[in-house]
Amino acid sequence: METNRGSFSRIGFILAAAGSAVGLGNLWKFPYTVGENGGGLFVVIYLLSVIAIAFPVLLAEVTLGRFTGKNPVGAFNAIKPGTPWKLVGYLGVASGFMILSFYSVVAGTTLGYFFKSVTGQFVNITPEIAEQTCDAFTSNPAFQLPLLALFIAITVFVVMRGVSGGIEKFSKILMPVLFGILILLLVRSLTLSGAAKGIEFYLKPDISALKPKLVLDAMGQAFFSLSLGMGTMITYGSYVSKRENLVTSAGWIASFDTGIALMAGFIIFPAIFSQGMNEAAGPDTMFNVLPVLFDKMPGGIFFGPLFFLLLSIAALTSTISILEVPVAYAVDERKWGRKKSAILIGSIACLIGVPAALSQGSVPFLADLPLLHISFMALWVQVWGVLSLSIGAFFIALFVGYAWKPGNALMEIRQGAGSLKAVSLWVFAVKYVSPLLILAILIGMFF
Ligand code: PHE
Repeated sequence: METNRGSFSRIGFILAAAGSAVGLGNLWKFPYTVGENGGGLFVVIYLLSVIAIAFPVLLAEVTLGRFTGKNPVGAFNAIKPGTPWKLVGYLGVASGFMILSFYSVVAGTTLGYFFKSVTGQFVNITPEIAEQTCDAFTSNPAFQLPLLALFIAITVFVVMRGVSGGIEKFSKILMPVLFGILILLLVRSLTLSGAAKGIEFYLKPDISALKPKLVLDAMGQAFFSLSLGMGTMITYGSYVSKRENLVTSAGWIASFDTGIALMAGFIIFPAIFSQGMNEAAGPDTMFNVLPVLFDKMPGGIFFGPLFFLLLSIAALTSTISILEVPVAYAVDERKWGRKKSAILIGSIACLIGVPAALSQGSVPFLADLPLLHISFMALWVQVWGVLSLSIGAFFIALFVGYAWKPGNALMEIRQGAGSLKAVSLWVFAVKYVSPLLILAILIGMFF
């Protein structure tokens, strides 16, 4: 079922998919979620989720995408036409809108921090001033709204130019540089005095922290970080050539993404504990810690701005992949032009992002939703970034395990992969392990 919708080159797919996976999920969301959930135990459950629950879904998504050559709605429809399965695709398209909206708010802040650091505003910064600066910045609509719009506009610009013209080019050069700066940050943080306390918090599981919400958050983090559950990997899979080995590609993507998240923890927690900062500061955590860390690092005045710029770009390679889901749907199924789809969908996501942008302190009602006692932003992250992705992943696993049937998926996987020994393990995981654990964890939410 190959089509001429454009495609990735061999290495292009791994880079673009890793670009989608690596982003704010790793450097912003992972450390603060670890912090809120009490440290080491969360990390353990997150790693187990990646291996046992998320990886099987990752392989299922890319296989589904490459076999059908379609967006999520089209993919379900191609295999089981005229059935309600396409609703799973629609849920993915909806999640795309919603995740893009709040993700771009945070990405906008990253861009703002680039401007701040390049103009020397973090020189000689103390932990207290860093926290005040972050509060003042995120609660000011005059910064948040234009940055949200700017970030979505850049995303739209890239997606408009199509798969290989836009998406691939941007992923290629910048990831290695980002990785290099992360290594420098790692060395700086681990050598701070008092770093060991941070490592202990990060690595030592405390069983008394075990709660249904921790498990749900850990699993949701695995899906969010690997861009699963909304059809991003179905869509990117649809641009992959039949010569590509999907199993090793998926393995690389998952290892790379998980490695960067783990590294982020090794950077953030030693710094937090050595500077006496708050490990449960929520979404502000990364923005509180990093300026302090760069200020304490030789060459920080240079690496700081470079880092925030690269992080914005890492966020961009993720927002591109998020916007690509509804755009691929509009182009394939609604026959809209790529340009029109990108602009229209981007504009709507920008509007949906406004309450999230205003909820970080500037509008009291949104900053503390009545009854729920969380901010609109936190609610959006939980509903779309955790719940909807988990529900989507559940149905994707069911679809491949029972409707499409693993035998058919295996025929697709074997192209480019040759004979495979470990695949029976994957079949077992996609039929039983992933769906049952996701279901159990979702039900656990009510207890
Ligand atoms: N995986 C991305 C990150 O970690 C976010 C993302 C979620 C991208 C869902 C696509 C789909 O930043």
